[in-house]
Amino acid sequence: MPEQRKKKPEDLRSHRWYGVRDLRSFGHRSRAKQMGYGREDWAGKPVIAIVNTWSDINPCHSHFKQRVEEVKRGVWQAGGFPVELPAMSLSEPFVKPTTMLYRNMLAMETEELLRCHPVDGAVLLGGCDKTTPALLMGAFSMDLPAIFVPAGPMLRGNWRGETLGSGSDTWKYWAELRAGNIDEAAWEEIEDGIARSPGHCMTMGTASTMTSVAEALGLTLPGAASIPAADSNHSRMASRSGRRIVEMVWQDLKPSGILTAASFDNAITVDMALGGSTNAIVHIIAMARRAGIDLKIDRFDELSRLVPVIANIRPSGAYLMEDFYYAGGLRALLAEIKELLDLDRLTVNGRTLGENIAGAEIHDDDVIRRLSNPVSPAGSTAVLRGNLAPEGAVIKASAAERHLWQHTGPAVVFEDYNDMAARIDDPALPVTGESVLVLKNAGPLGGPGMPEWGQLPIPEKLLRQGVRDMVRISDARMSGTSYGTCVLHVSPESFTGGPLALVRDGDPIHLDVSARKLELQVDEAELARRRAEWTPPEPRYGRGYGAMFSRHVTQAHEGCDFDYLETGAGEPVPEPEIH
Ligand code: FES
Repeated sequence: MPEQRKKKPEDLRSHRWYGVRDLRSFGHRSRAKQMGYGREDWAGKPVIAIVNTWSDINPCHSHFKQRVEEVKRGVWQAGGFPVELPAMSLSEPFVKPTTMLYRNMLAMETEELLRCHPVDGAVLLGGCDKTTPALLMGAFSMDLPAIFVPAGPMLRGNWRGETLGSGSDTWKYWAELRAGNIDEAAWEEIEDGIARSPGHCMTMGTASTMTSVAEALGLTLPGAASIPAADSNHSRMASRSGRRIVEMVWQDLKPSGILTAASFDNAITVDMALGGSTNAIVHIIAMARRAGIDLKIDRFDELSRLVPVIANIRPSGAYLMEDFYYAGGLRALLAEIKELLDLDRLTVNGRTLGENIAGAEIHDDDVIRRLSNPVSPAGSTAVLRGNLAPEGAVIKASAAERHLWQHTGPAVVFEDYNDMAARIDDPALPVTGESVLVLKNAGPLGGPGMPEWGQLPIPEKLLRQGVRDMVRISDARMSGTSYGTCVLHVSPESFTGGPLALVRDGDPIHLDVSARKLELQVDEAELARRRAEWTPPEPRYGRGYGAMFSRHVTQAHEGCDFDYLETGAGEPVPEPEIH
């Protein structure tokens, strides 16, 4: 047994199920034999859970059936016993009202799957937006050795020879269709060509951001997050992850042995250099709190000011994740910003981040820019404060029109999503390009689940006048593939009586991205009067998961985790009784 091994077979958690001599273990062994396994399959071996978020309705994970077999091959090769455990797939395009409503449910499912089964370590298969933070949050709380296998981005989209990016080009061509610049036949061709292989969205949306964040935290094998799903290197990465997790069990290398405050600074730094999704802010805060680190939203602003965007990926840039991979991938980006990182952080392969990026090179410095020639200067994600957002709001400045960074305009208020959908294209809506669109009741409790409604559509009459961006404010989130001057995550949310609830049509609102300001220019006496008149809305749910969600979800600046799930990764986890 190699020197670095800390465990013997009798120390394995699974030994209590399979290895002892009592009536219960007889049941476990006889039932394993019922499935065709023999003692030689499990005796003295780490049992590895493969938590698989595949389903028939998640296109981003449609290759996971094959990847599971490849992970299993690696586990067998390294002397482990793999068991596949299916988990909720959280398909971003199909789950309503929003996958964010269920992120915590998958996190809890992951934690409990690992707790209640006889497993010693876990390989986590995810990638579609919420699956990455959810799987990792659960794994941090359970704190067994765990390695993340990112789904990988899909290939570039194609329409008449033109490259299409997930999300970004959907919004772009939808606006062109509504403006009358393309016809229905072209729109259908775009539908045929925009998603043409397995894998997650290939723009720098939440999926690409969060899988890269997982790698920056040290939770994947080096380079794993950038490999396109359809590339055979992805299969080999899956098998290698299977081999590696077995060694991690013997070495007792757990999330609590990897994650520190500095790891999360690395994750935020990478998020900023990528021009990552604003959704990552909520997820990284939630993940940090699961790891026992009290990460504040202001840390994103502090680090953002130091880190320029160097990944030239849509929506902030020009290229897609397939190009990013060919240009050197995340390892090359990490090497370019190495002065901004803590390179001594340990990773799942037992080496440091610095060791893992040694020798990494940029092969195309238009796709991964040099620090001396960034896509956007430092400060591309800003945390705003002011009387409209006492606990903060965020804006992805790099995806906003520069001339709107400083803007004052009259509010056009929508009380909720249905109100907006009913009136946004009404020719009589009193709106101009100078107006500030405000959407209420779209936060964690109000949405519910803080849906991605934050990129409010430009009213059709303004589109026809050539307006393509305007200031929009909400307590919602926004898809990472979206763009525009959208102020998001306003906290506290309007549903709970936050100041956003008090905004009325015509109120002047002042945005100043450089000064980090978001102000409702209405005097305090008038706001106090409106506050006294405000009545809380009826709760969204009276029963079921929704009722539990409503009682326990925290606000955006706190990560939207359930209050009772926020435990430190290093704390002891009660083991199940198996008698
Ligand atoms: Fe799955 Fe975008 S739909 S990542």
